[in-house]
Amino acid sequence: MFISSMLITTTINLVAAQGCRPDQTETLKRFKNEFAFSSRCSDDAYFLRGVTCDNATGAVTELKLPIGCLLGTLRDNSSLFELSHLRYLNLSFNNFASSPLSSAFGQLHNLEVLLLSTNGFLGQVPSSLRNLTKLTQLQLAHNKLTGDLTSVLQNLTNLVALDVSSNEFYGTIPSFLFTLPLLSYLDLSENHLSGSLEIPFSSPKLQVLRLSYLNISHQIDLRILSSLKSLSYLDLSGNSLTPTSMDSDIDFTKSLRFLLLSECNISEFPRFVKSLKNLEYLYLSHNRIKGNVPDWLWSLPRLTTLYLINNSFTGFEGSLDHVLANSPVQVLDMAYNCFRGSFPNPPLYIINLSAWNNSFTGEIPLSTCNRTFLDVLDLSYNNFTGLIPPCLSNRNVVNLRKNKLEGNIPDEFYNGASTQTLDVGYNQLTGKLPRSLLNCTHLRFLSVDDNRISDSFPFWLKALPSLKTLTLRSNRFHGPISPPDRPSPLAFPKLQILEISHNRFTGSLPNNYFENWSATSLKPNDEEKYMGDYTSDNIYEENMYMGDYTSDKYMYQDTLDLQYKGLYMEQGKVLTFYSAIDFSGNKLEGEIPESIGLLKALIAVNLSSNSFTGHIPMSFANVSELESLDLSKNKLSGEIPQELRRLSYLAYIDVSDNHLTGEIPQGTQITGQPKSSFEGNLGLCGLPLEESCFTENTPSIEEPEEKDEGVLKWRAVAIGYGPGVLFGLAIGHLVALYKPEWFIKNYIQNRLRGIGRV
Ligand SMILES: *[C@@H]1O[C@H](CO)[C@@H](O)[C@H](O)[C@H]1NC(C)=O
Ligand SMILES: *[C@@H]1O[C@H](CO)[C@@H](O)[C@H](O)[C@H]1NC(C)=O
Ligand SMILES: *[C@@H]1O[C@H](CO)[C@@H](O)[C@H](O)[C@H]1NC(C)=O
Ligand SMILES: *[C@@H]1O[C@H](CO)[C@@H](O)[C@H](O)[C@H]1NC(C)=O
Ligand SMILES: *[C@@H]1O[C@H](CO)[C@@H](O)[C@H](O)[C@H]1NC(C)=O
Ligand SMILES: *[C@@H]1O[C@H](CO)[C@@H](O)[C@H](O)[C@H]1NC(C)=O
Ligand SMILES: *[C@@H]1O[C@H](CO)[C@@H](O)[C@H](O)[C@H]1NC(C)=O
Ligand SMILES: *[C@@H]1O[C@H](CO)[C@@H](O)[C@H](O)[C@H]1NC(C)=O
Ligand SMILES: *[C@@H]1O[C@H](CO)[C@@H](O)[C@H](O)[C@H]1NC(C)=O
Ligand SMILES: *[C@@H]1O[C@H](CO)[C@@H](O)[C@H](O)[C@H]1NC(C)=O
Ligand SMILES: *[C@@H]1O[C@H](CO)[C@@H](O)[C@H](O)[C@H]1NC(C)=O
Ligand SMILES: *[C@@H]1O[C@H](CO)[C@@H](O)[C@H](O)[C@H]1NC(C)=O
Repeated sequence: MFISSMLITTTINLVAAQGCRPDQTETLKRFKNEFAFSSRCSDDAYFLRGVTCDNATGAVTELKLPIGCLLGTLRDNSSLFELSHLRYLNLSFNNFASSPLSSAFGQLHNLEVLLLSTNGFLGQVPSSLRNLTKLTQLQLAHNKLTGDLTSVLQNLTNLVALDVSSNEFYGTIPSFLFTLPLLSYLDLSENHLSGSLEIPFSSPKLQVLRLSYLNISHQIDLRILSSLKSLSYLDLSGNSLTPTSMDSDIDFTKSLRFLLLSECNISEFPRFVKSLKNLEYLYLSHNRIKGNVPDWLWSLPRLTTLYLINNSFTGFEGSLDHVLANSPVQVLDMAYNCFRGSFPNPPLYIINLSAWNNSFTGEIPLSTCNRTFLDVLDLSYNNFTGLIPPCLSNRNVVNLRKNKLEGNIPDEFYNGASTQTLDVGYNQLTGKLPRSLLNCTHLRFLSVDDNRISDSFPFWLKALPSLKTLTLRSNRFHGPISPPDRPSPLAFPKLQILEISHNRFTGSLPNNYFENWSATSLKPNDEEKYMGDYTSDNIYEENMYMGDYTSDKYMYQDTLDLQYKGLYMEQGKVLTFYSAIDFSGNKLEGEIPESIGLLKALIAVNLSSNSFTGHIPMSFANVSELESLDLSKNKLSGEIPQELRRLSYLAYIDVSDNHLTGEIPQGTQITGQPKSSFEGNLGLCGLPLEESCFTENTPSIEEPEEKDEGVLKWRAVAIGYGPGVLFGLAIGHLVALYKPEWFIKNYIQNRLRGIGRV
């Protein structure tokens, strides 16, 4: 639906591309008109910026289309195939809507570079690609191509880089590829390739080898890789490895810089790693490694990035004070293990440190305050005690959720503090919210829920221009949530999630309370939805070709426990457009402001267990994304507005225990709710209640039946950092709605994997 709203299908006159022959420009124009294209691409200069013609002949030799321009079928008779002088063709990241890959590509026999990744191509790879013997680079990644690679690739002896990952290729691993004299980059991962891995000859130039998630039936003996003398990057994730081969020295000891062995069913720390003196990046997550992390690991001279997520590590070999502290490690993620005891002094140059979901005890070492480069500190879900270290200011992310920390949140945020995320929820903190938070102009996520903080409502946080999520749930906050002296809109500029439930807030809300709450008033933007159809993997891969292996960055994602009943959620929406308010369990009174209808992006509203009076605002009908609405246990009277029938996403509504009367709006979303959602009112009638509206009604006297208090509790990604996450999670948009269980699983996996794949 939204695709049609954003694609312009009128024909556009292309201005001539510089230096191109008129007939060539004409061909390009015809090519463009074969497709629908996104509005950005209607600008000729934008479309043509990647066209290069030969100075002497005026023929098109290079064509690089911008990301996400074209949508439609690429046919055999496409004008593209008339551009026979093409040497470089990059059509990656367009959408050829499940076209087969045309055999006419085989006519472009001058091609040296052919990039067709992430395009929705489907079906058999054409054997005519065999003709493209000048190819040095071929990328077909992230399509749904199938076929036997061996026959297609056999004659492409000039290949330097080949990427066919994330397709449905079958057959055996084409071992002749290892004999190609120039091949330096090979990615076959995520295909159905089977058989065993054989490396017949030495492959002198091979630097990057990715064979993750294939269908290899045998265990891989690492020693067969010995002949790959230049290997710098090796990814064997998702394969089983011969345990004994991990104990021996292997000949790539000098060259290997990146090693990824995720989900390899490894149970002992692989000792061959000890001799990899140039290793910079080690990914050992999702294995079954037990016991201590060996002390020699910390003396690998170049190791900067270490992922040990989801194993069964219990501790560290050697002295906690010294061993790690002297290592060159900058990124360390040990989440989801069984580490216990005190936390070691972190490496001196640490940047990102994560140890969430372990059983660390004792105090958070003060030495963390000494680590000047520390940017992300995630020690959530452990058993730390004592005080929060007084050095939060210069960290981008501090997550200490679910520990046993006491005392105040240190009031020492200085001017220019870089804090973007602060989560100290589920501890035993007391005192007030530190006023110096005002110095954190970058703050976007603040979670202090489930503590014993005693303060008035922090109106002053309105001054923070980026604050998107604020949760004060289950504390001892008190007083009005609207300034009593001059009733005015709350108007936090960027706020999307406001949870203040289970405190002691009082007073009423002025009618304009929800005005000027800009972020939440916006509806999802269609074009961005469409553009979200890429994964972080792709971005990562593109960088790999540029020789930038270091783009494998640690990514932290803000998360929070959502407690709205009946919520079903689209992944991408969670990330960009998700908005919710929870004021439940306070002592709020007066009417629910009509201005709530301005918050169009809200998907969940919980105002239950207060003392709201008056009618249910009709304006709820404007909150068209609403999926969960809980107004139960108030003193609302009058009828339920019939307009609520328009809320087509409404999965959960509860208005029980109020003073409502009249007919329940009859519509599938509402009458499909359980009876308990309407019970305990003065005089409601109609489905799902048994009381008919056409007989005389007496107020229901029976006790409302015990309601299921087990809320759907699940962790969701609220705001992501960086384009990788944004693209990665927005993918769900086009597909479907997901159930929470599905989401938990995937969310945890996303957060655990640290980098792409898995
Ligand atoms: C083509 O012309 C451009 C400038 O017009 C020049 O920079 C480039 O070097 C020329 N290329 C060849 C191959 O002559
Ligand atoms: C191919 O084009 C896409 C889309 O513009 C771009 O992201 C990618 O970097 C290009 N690939 C190469 C190898 O230049
Ligand atoms: C290409 O073929 C399709 C049918 O396969 C036809 O509808 C279309 O008109 C043809 N285009 C040209 C430019 O010949
Ligand atoms: C290209 O491949 C096709 C099919 O494999 C073949 O018929 C044709 O002769 C080849 N040669 C050229 C130059 O197109
Ligand atoms: C491919 O290479 C084989 C030899 O390995 C040769 O017989 C055949 O003619 C080549 N095919 C093409 C299309 O170049
Ligand atoms: C994986 O390989 C086995 C044979 O080893 C085969 O039976 C199975 O179908 C393959 N799976 C896929 C998804 O190709
Ligand atoms: C993992 O390794 C154990 C032996 O260490 C073996 O029993 C088990 O089958 C392996 N699991 C898989 C999925 O390969
Ligand atoms: C942990 O790793 C195992 C494989 O060893 C995998 O099956 C499991 O799903 C992983 N757990 C999480 C939460 O990612
Ligand atoms: C924290 O300690 C308590 C006992 O004091 C224990 O029951 C709980 O499992 C521990 N939690 C973690 C995450 O280790
Ligand atoms: C912080 O570092 C300084 C030297 O850089 C050292 O003297 C001091 O003991 C360290 N403090 C902690 C708590 O590690
Ligand atoms: C902001 O930080 C400065 C020191 O850099 C401090 O003097 C000031 O009191 C802080 N602001 C607030 C509101 O606490
Ligand atoms: C550290 O984490 C931040 C936040 O996720 C990220 O932006 C940054 O790239 C990471 N740094 C490294 C070196 O991975």
